[in-house]
Amino acid sequence: MKRKKSSRIPGFFKLSRKKKIEIVKDFADLTDKEVKIIEKGIFDSEIRDRMVENVIGTFPLPYSIAVNFLINKKEYLVPMVTEESSVVAAACYGARLTRERGGISAENLGNLMIGQIYVVDLKNPKRAKLRILKNKKEILKIANQQKPDLVKIGGGVRGLEVKLFKSQKTGSVLRIHLLIDTRDAMGANTVNTIIEGTAPLIEKIVGREALLKIVSNLAEERLVKVKAMVTKKVLTMKGFSGKEVIQRIVKAQAIADVDIYRAVTNNKGILNGMGAVALATGNDWRALEAGAHGFAAKSGRYLPLARWRKNKQGDLVGEMTVPITIGILGGIIKIHPISKISLKILKIKSAQELAQVIASVGLVQNLGALRALVVEGIQSGHMRLHAKNIAMEAGAKGKMIERVANKMLREKRIESGRAKEILEKNI
Ligand code: MEV
Repeated sequence: MKRKKSSRIPGFFKLSRKKKIEIVKDFADLTDKEVKIIEKGIFDSEIRDRMVENVIGTFPLPYSIAVNFLINKKEYLVPMVTEESSVVAAACYGARLTRERGGISAENLGNLMIGQIYVVDLKNPKRAKLRILKNKKEILKIANQQKPDLVKIGGGVRGLEVKLFKSQKTGSVLRIHLLIDTRDAMGANTVNTIIEGTAPLIEKIVGREALLKIVSNLAEERLVKVKAMVTKKVLTMKGFSGKEVIQRIVKAQAIADVDIYRAVTNNKGILNGMGAVALATGNDWRALEAGAHGFAAKSGRYLPLARWRKNKQGDLVGEMTVPITIGILGGIIKIHPISKISLKILKIKSAQELAQVIASVGLVQNLGALRALVVEGIQSGHMRLHAKNIAMEAGAKGKMIERVANKMLREKRIESGRAKEILEKNI
């Protein structure tokens, strides 16, 4: 019988890198070759040089594993690529807090991308709108002919929406949305191909050239909803009762609800986690971020993406609904050797499942940040991890990195000047 592998690995962060790799290798049945690729960051120069223009090298970033994730009762080790210290630690910590109550629950509320066609300078905009609606069936047919392979695997264009509105500069604007199921691809290229291929028919129907034909990153038809509960018991810490910590988190939420200056930072924290997983899986993290920020402002007021509240039992409940535009194929995902390995570590079966994981990471990332902010402040944990970077920046090598960092931490003086002094004077 196959052993059930848990992602709850106490003290993972304290293990050597070699031991960490052994654990991940065993969890995900990685081959020696795959391990070597992760360790060395091997990136076939032929692939790299053709990926974008004017390539002259590679910019490596740390590749980490977040442990403790239990999502819809499935155990996940989550690869994250980020340069920011404490992001991975906060994700692991937040995920751990949710386990007592069964982890995170996640559901996809849709899988449709939006392709847009805009037409302006219409002689009779209302009539143009009616004509589009009248020809809806034909437009959908032509749209689906643009990507027969997508239709064969069960995807394709599912709907058409049309809206007329005004812009001061151009007058009437006719906006046509095609709603497209791109299955396991993020689908920006698919969407753009379909709408560019469908635009000539639209232009014929309305008698005007389309000005814009492009995917919308406000993917409100591709939402994921995640929820987690955290008990008072696990939030009891550092001289605070769980009840107090929950009260403080709920107050922090209330501030973000009414003040955009806080809400933006709050959401940046959520995207610290979401973006890091998107990057590790070869996905377009800018699309993800644009969509999340746009969705946060959809009501006309920029709001925090996640909501934290106290339930009747006095425990903390967090919920978040967010658009997630990612894929497990297309783009560079199946070309980049490390994104392929990330998907293997995640044991992901579909883009929808990956979207659930990414939203879950965002939710617990927020929990980790809020918990730290309202208890000890963000800098103690952050600087504990960042002190090593400062020591390295000052020239520390090998064992000296830890020594200089620890000394600065003991002295509570984590500055590059002090790091240099410690090194020069060997104190
Ligand atoms: C830092 O990258 C992210 C935080 O500022 C998020 C937050 O304030 O909620 C810690």
